[in-house]
Amino acid sequence: MVSYRLYCTLWILLCFGQYFGQDLQFPEPANGAVGESVVLAPDNPPSTSFLVTQWTLIDSTLIIRVVSGVTTVNSSYEGRVRFDINTLALELQNLRLGDSGIYRLSVTTSAGEILTGETSLQVFEKISNVRVIGPEELLIEGDSSANITSVGTGNITSVEWMKDNSPLSPSNRIIFSPDNRSVSISPVQRSDSGEYQCTYRNPASSETAKHSLIINCEC
Ligand SMILES: *[C@@H]1O[C@H](CO)[C@@H](O)[C@H](O)[C@H]1NC(C)=O
Ligand SMILES: *[C@@H]1O[C@H](CO)[C@@H](O)[C@H](O)[C@H]1NC(C)=O
Ligand SMILES: *[C@@H]1O[C@H](CO)[C@@H](O)[C@H](O)[C@H]1NC(C)=O
Ligand SMILES: *[C@@H]1O[C@H](CO)[C@@H](O)[C@H](O)[C@H]1NC(C)=O
Repeated sequence: MVSYRLYCTLWILLCFGQYFGQDLQFPEPANGAVGESVVLAPDNPPSTSFLVTQWTLIDSTLIIRVVSGVTTVNSSYEGRVRFDINTLALELQNLRLGDSGIYRLSVTTSAGEILTGETSLQVFEKISNVRVIGPEELLIEGDSSANITSVGTGNITSVEWMKDNSPLSPSNRIIFSPDNRSVSISPVQRSDSGEYQCTYRNPASSETAKHSLIINCEC
């Protein structure tokens, strides 16, 4: 039914020699964090007046439609969408994981031309509760080994370590776990003393935790 209607629309547009494609360009795929807001805005909003403007999610779910100045918002989006009729920007507030998807903006100009554009949004669980847990026992140079482990919640896409504000690199003594969440140093040396910082990231948030190691001399 939907595809039949789409086919008819396409057919009519082709008959009238009109162009049907990605006329509205978006800067890049958008990322957002659960509970926060995101703005989806085309780079090139047309300057003509519009008969119909609408934003949909993956072609089927209507989010907002403005017909001749009258706005209709899907009731399940009530209170968390804002639309700017001049820039055609859609602001989605109080984001949920289920808001991830392909968003389509379509505009019918008063000349009857249909302009469309698509962009995507990925919503991530915010990173939180990042902690670094280090060894509690006395560490002796050339003798002890140390495991530094990190924990955290949220959608974690990368984990990076710094020591005294410089990136920590693996070596024959410093070994990272495959997911980078733990670092094992064996044997420890005096130069391993310092502040270790671990950063958990995703495209929408990050959090850093620190832990200091003191390596004692063998004396
Ligand atoms: C309104 O949104 C819900 C999902 O949030 C969707 O299931 C429903 O189809 C939408 N209504 C319209 C008219 O698209
Ligand atoms: C560090 O971790 C490795 C593997 O997870 C383990 O074999 C080793 O005993 C640990 N070392 C310390 C000092 O806990
Ligand atoms: C984020 O985590 C939730 C569960 O906590 C999961 O359902 C979702 O797929 C994850 N999203 C990404 C982009 O990894
Ligand atoms: C692990 O850390 C290295 C170097 O900091 C980085 O290049 C790599 O992408 C990280 N891998 C993960 C899974 O975070």
